[in-house]
Formats: sequence, structure tokens, C-alpha cells
Amino acid sequence: MPDRPSSGRNAAGAPLEGRAVGGRPRVQAEHLRVDGDVVPAGAPGASLLEVLRGAGIFAAKQACGRGECGACTVLVGDRAVMSCTMPAAVVTDEVTTAAGLGDDAADLRAAFADHAAFQCGFCTPGQVVRAAAVLRESVDRSRDEIAREMSGNICRCTGYRQIVDAVCAVAESRQAAR
Ligand code: FES
Ligand code: FES
Repeated sequence: MPDRPSSGRNAAGAPLEGRAVGGRPRVQAEHLRVDGDVVPAGAPGASLLEVLRGAGIFAAKQACGRGECGACTVLVGDRAVMSCTMPAAVVTDEVTTAAGLGDDAADLRAAFADHAAFQCGFCTPGQVVRAAAVLRESVDRSRDEIAREMSGNICRCTGYRQIVDAVCAVAESRQAAR
């Protein structure tokens, strides 16, 4: 007999539609905060990527849909996540897409251009979001560490050297600016 949710939560730990949790009404939010705006949370079971794109937010790209390529990477709080595999129901922090990074990522965008770190550009929003998260955590990283942190984001065009060059250049300039 298959396992059944027993505590009012689904397998991802999200409250189930219409169920009480701990004696309180279900707590799935009706809205998410994305890039400073409020968007509908979407249908129960929807991924964060489905909610974003359903709301007309296309900075998070749809590609593999299985958490393997990083094209859909966004920030949830300060954490970079692959939005295609994250249930929207568990998201409580502000979501930031590449479009919402604003001036915080101006140096990253410039460095990607300066280092020819994109060609078709499909992977670039996810790459920039990942890089933003990596450098928010710390700019004191070796090239190998940056390459490792960026390795979950696939690029079919550039090879990866230019991407790592760009992120390293920003890390160095931010170090120098301290
Ligand atoms: S589309 Fe989400 S990881 Fe590929
Ligand atoms: S620039 Fe084309 S996939 Fe990365």
C-alpha cells in the first residue's frame, strides 16, 4: 500500500490544500513576493518555476525541468535554488530573479559582457543569479571554489572558462573595494 501523507503536509513538507496543520487552518500562502511585486501562489503542487512563468515572469528559464541544468535558478531569500524542483508552497521568503537583482548585479552583468561569458544567453540569467548568491556568501573565494560553486549551471555555448573569469573578476573587484 503506498505511503499517504499523514500530517497535513505533502512529501515536500508543504501544507496540503484544505487541511489543518497542528490544529490551525492550512498556511499555504496565497501570494509570493517576487522581485518586489506580489504574485499569485498558483495551484497546489505547482513548482516555483511554474508560478513564476504563469505570472509572466520569464527571467527564470524553463529547460530540463528536473533540477539538472540551472537555467531556472532564482534566489529564495539569499539562497540560490532551482525553481523547477522547488514546490511553490514551501516558499515564504522573497524570490529574486535575474531581473530583480538590479544594481546589486550590475558589476556581474558587466563582467559577463566584458569576458564574453554568454553567447545565446539562455543560461545567463541563471548563471548571474547563481554568481550573485555565491558572492553574497563570500567574495573571498579561490578560482577553484568559484568554479565548483558555479558548476551546477550548465552552458552549452561558452565553455565555462569565461563564466568563471567573469565571476572571479567581480570577486576581486569587490575584495578591492572593501
Ligand atoms: S530547468 Fe530547472 S534545473 Fe533545468
Ligand atoms: S550562453 Fe548559450 S547556453 Fe549559455
